[in-house]
Amino acid sequence: MQEERLIELLVNLHDGLSRLGPGNAPSTLRALRMCRELPATPDILDVGCGSGSQTLVLASATQGRITATDLFPSFFQTHLEKVARKEGLDERIRTVQADMNDLPFDEESFDLVWSEGAVYIMGFDNGLTKWRPLVRPGGYLVVSEASWFTDNPPDELWKFWTAHYPGMRSVQANHEAAQSLGWTSIGHFHLPVEAWTIDYYGPLRERLPIFRAANANDADAQAVADMTEYEMYLMDTYSEHFGYEFHILRRND
Ligand SMILES: C[S@@+](CC[C@H](N)C(=O)[O-])C[C@H]1O[C@@H](n2cnc3c(N)ncnc32)[C@H](O)[C@@H]1O
Repeated sequence: MQEERLIELLVNLHDGLSRLGPGNAPSTLRALRMCRELPATPDILDVGCGSGSQTLVLASATQGRITATDLFPSFFQTHLEKVARKEGLDERIRTVQADMNDLPFDEESFDLVWSEGAVYIMGFDNGLTKWRPLVRPGGYLVVSEASWFTDNPPDELWKFWTAHYPGMRSVQANHEAAQSLGWTSIGHFHLPVEAWTIDYYGPLRERLPIFRAANANDADAQAVADMTEYEMYLMDTYSEHFGYEFHILRRND
């Protein structure tokens, strides 16, 4: 299947869902609390915000101004913007369509750059390098990244994830890479398994039969649904071997 067609089907499958990847509010808040020296009204950039569940958590938990960016504006239009208006957070959240590879912001514009489940798109090292100039000295970068938790994952798990994300590394390798790219590590932790199975896969599991029925004669769409179900099975079976790791990093110069 062509890459463009795959993306189109994945966007269609996820459209309107409140989470587009693994994550949950307690984990967002845990990582935010580790950024102990943020100013009272921080400028925050959320990269690859998707439907913006974490953006809303950041807006509720701080007095900051948040810029939420994504390549596909339909994601933030159908969820984040509506909920932000309803909850009276819209004055502190602005949405901007932008490619994470080429973000249209001045250097040192942000006290905190945040990205949940999205840095894999440009690669961990690339993201940590390209986003660094946007962070003010003393500011923070928080990313969650798909990672190996053990050295010898089972074959079927290894095959799936190396096919879908060849750049996936161990937590330790990413921890060391961050430091070699000039970041100070404040800490890191595993995203809990329920942030996959309940917060992300829960609504997606309900969406799948609707997606299948709406695309009954489309072999590509059925293949995307099959792949999604297989990914869920792998997480249900092998969660000790892989997952997402939050890294809390600081720019000290
Ligand atoms: C797995 S989702 C994570 C979304 C959200 N942070 C969450 O945790 O629910 C990855 C997001 O990255 C966005 N994305 C894909 N390519 C991008 C790019 N080149 N620049 C900016 N965003 C991109 C997708 O549209 C999607 O919203």
